[in-house]
Amino acid sequence: MNLKQALRHSLEPDELDHLVRSYDVVGDIAIIALPPPLFHRETLIGEAILNINKRIKVVARRDGCCSGEYRITPLKIIAGEQRLETIHREFGVLLHLDLGRVYFSPRSGNERKRLADMVVDDESILVMFSGIAPAPLLLAKHSPAATIIGVEKNSDAHHFALINRKKNRAEKKVSLWCGDVIDLVPSCGMKFDRIVMPLPGSARSFLRLAIHALRCGGHLHLYDFQPQSQFGETVAALQLASHQAGRTMRLDNLVVCGHNSPSSYRICVDASIF
Ligand SMILES: C[S@@+](CC[C@H](N)C(=O)[O-])C[C@H]1O[C@@H](n2cnc3c(N)ncnc32)[C@H](O)[C@@H]1O
Repeated sequence: MNLKQALRHSLEPDELDHLVRSYDVVGDIAIIALPPPLFHRETLIGEAILNINKRIKVVARRDGCCSGEYRITPLKIIAGEQRLETIHREFGVLLHLDLGRVYFSPRSGNERKRLADMVVDDESILVMFSGIAPAPLLLAKHSPAATIIGVEKNSDAHHFALINRKKNRAEKKVSLWCGDVIDLVPSCGMKFDRIVMPLPGSARSFLRLAIHALRCGGHLHLYDFQPQSQFGETVAALQLASHQAGRTMRLDNLVVCGHNSPSSYRICVDASIF
């Protein structure tokens, strides 16, 4: 039974029209977006989710947009247990996290798997903005990469990343650094075969240091938010940054991997930099 069916006798017809059909699930926590006209019904809606999905133990509603440097989404618990800590499983990788302290989106799972499927033997990979380490750990489990380094500034996210690395027995392949990519990437003096930049909206400001850390012919994955008419702008920004670094860029792919708002997409530009 879906949520609308479960609530068809409890909500007014106009309230049912406002109700979304789906919600995200992270571990045993459901996260739903409710419009303000349904706020006074939130407990009823939360309990309906608990009733139709026995795996769910907590229901939270989004209480604003994911924002700030650490991209944390404000959440309000509306039913179930009083916690935002859980363990999520993604393509066989276990991810322990607290949604009140770190960023995580289960919607990017397929995109992380897409990245892992592109990797060839023995690559060295840098994942900037690595959060609780979903990308480093998926790459470690599902790709033939030799080494993966994740860099994350939020010490809470880094704390969970270390737990997750241990949980997934990935200590040999994955190194996790806590700090600002601006400080840590140039000072490590390393050149990588592949660099992943999953900070849409801001990743572009870090292109100069990413390109500098990429070996000739290396692959870069730049995430951005753009309306469809502006996709070319993100490609042009990467082209310009490559040119300014005395390098050339080849566009390999541009994929749409989610939504930011009804008219703005989450995109990834896959490029090789020579
Ligand atoms: C959109 S989240 C993505 C996290 C992770 N890659 C994921 O998909 O779950 C971006 C992350 O970048 C981190 N971050 C933001 N600015 C940073 C910086 N200058 N250096 C390192 N990490 C940064 C934030 O704390 C946040 O965890």
